[in-house]
Amino acid sequence: MGRGCTLHTDFLLSKTVSFAYSSARHMKKIKVAQFGLGPIGIETLRLVAGKPWAEIVGAIDIDPQKAGRDLGKLTHLGKLRGRSVHARLEELLQQVKPDLIFHTTVSKFKAAFAQLEPIARLGISVVSSCEELVFPQLREPVLAARLDRMCRKTGARMVGTGVNPGFVMDLLPLCLTGVSGSVRTVQVERVVDAATRREPLQRKIGSGLPPREFRRLLKQGRAGHAGLKESLALLAHGLGWNARNITEHGEAVIARKNLQTKYLRVRKGETCGLRQRAEARLRGQVRIRLDLSMYLGAPNPHDAILIEGQPPLHVVLSGGVAGDQATVAALVNCAPRLLQAKPGLRLLTDLALPRFA
Ligand SMILES: NC(=O)c1ccc[n+]([C@@H]2O[C@H](COP(=O)([O-])OP(=O)(O)OC[C@H]3O[C@@H](n4cnc5c(N)ncnc54)[C@H](OP(=O)(O)O)[C@@H]3O)[C@@H](O)[C@H]2O)c1
Repeated sequence: MGRGCTLHTDFLLSKTVSFAYSSARHMKKIKVAQFGLGPIGIETLRLVAGKPWAEIVGAIDIDPQKAGRDLGKLTHLGKLRGRSVHARLEELLQQVKPDLIFHTTVSKFKAAFAQLEPIARLGISVVSSCEELVFPQLREPVLAARLDRMCRKTGARMVGTGVNPGFVMDLLPLCLTGVSGSVRTVQVERVVDAATRREPLQRKIGSGLPPREFRRLLKQGRAGHAGLKESLALLAHGLGWNARNITEHGEAVIARKNLQTKYLRVRKGETCGLRQRAEARLRGQVRIRLDLSMYLGAPNPHDAILIEGQPPLHVVLSGGVAGDQATVAALVNCAPRLLQAKPGLRLLTDLALPRFA
C-alpha cells in the first residue's frame, strides 16, 4: 500500500491466487474461518454457509461463553455441527489453515492490528468489519505500513469493508462520480432509525446514557459512530483530492419521550442516539460533507447523495440501506474480490467493483 492518496487501483487479477472463484465448474472452495462471534460474526457465518464457493472450517472468539462451543449449536446451522469455536487462532491452526478469515471484533485499527498481524504472518487473507481499516493510514500510518509489508511478504490480502463505512457514504458516491464530467462538492446524508439495529450499535450511540456522560465519551472517542472520517478519507482518495483537514463533530440526540427497543429502555431526557458530521475543505471551501443521524425512532430513514457537478446528481435510497444485513453481505461479497487482488493491505478502491457474490 502506498502513502496518503498515492495508492494504486489494481484491476488486474493476481496470478498467485490458486483457488478459482467465479463460474469454474471444478472450483476449489475457499476455506474460511470466522474471527469474532458477535451479532455480525454470527450472521456472516450464516450467510457464507450458503455459498457454494466457501467451506467453513472453524471460528475464534475470546468470550468464555462462546469458546469451546460447537459452531452448529451457536449458529443453529446443522451443517456446521462438529466445527468448534476456539479461544485463540493458534488452536484453530492446529487443525486447519484457512485461506481467508472474516474478522468482526473491534472498531479501532490499533486494537485490530494485534489480531491481524499474526494472521498476516501466516499468509492468510482477511476481510474485516473494523471501521478504521477502511482507511487505516488515516490514524495509524506506521501500523498500516507494517501490516501492508507483512502481507506483501507472505502473500496475504487484507481489507476493511461494511456498509458504513465501506459503502453508503464512500464507495457508492464514488461510483456515482463515474458519470461526472466535473465534481465540485459531494454531500451524503444518512438517517438511521437505530431501533432497527443490533444491540451493540444501540449501546455505542449512547442509548440510555445521561447526555453529559455520552458527550464525555464522545469527546474521548469511546462512543459514537466509528469510521466517518475514514469514509471521507476513502472518498477523497478515490477522487484524487488531498483531504488533509478533515473535521468531525458529534452531538447527542435527547429522547423526547420514554422509548423501548428489543434490547433496552431509554427514559425521556436520556440520550437516544447521535448526529455526527465530517467535513473536508479544499482551499477554504467545504468540498465533502457527510452527515449521519442515527437515533432510536429517527423518522424518514434514508440515504441521500448529492453531487454538485456536471451533470448534477441527487440519489435517494428511501428507507436507507439496512445496516446489519448489508454489512454482513458486504463482508461476504468482498471475499472473492479480495482474493483476486494483489497481496497487501488493500483499500476498497483497489478491488473490483462491489457485486453480489
Ligand atoms: N463497517 C461497518 O459498516 C460495520 C457495521 C457493523 C459492525 N461493524 C463493526 O463490526 C464489529 C463487530 O460487530 P458486532 O456487533 O458483532 O460486535 P460485538 O458484539 O462487539 O462482537 C465482537 C465479538 O468479538 C469478540 N472479540 C473481541 N476481541 C477479540 C479477540 N481479541 N479475539 C477473539 N475474539 C474477540 C468479542 O468477545 P467479547 O464480547 O468477549 O469482547 C465478541 O464476541 C464491531 O467492531 C462493529 O463496530 C462495522
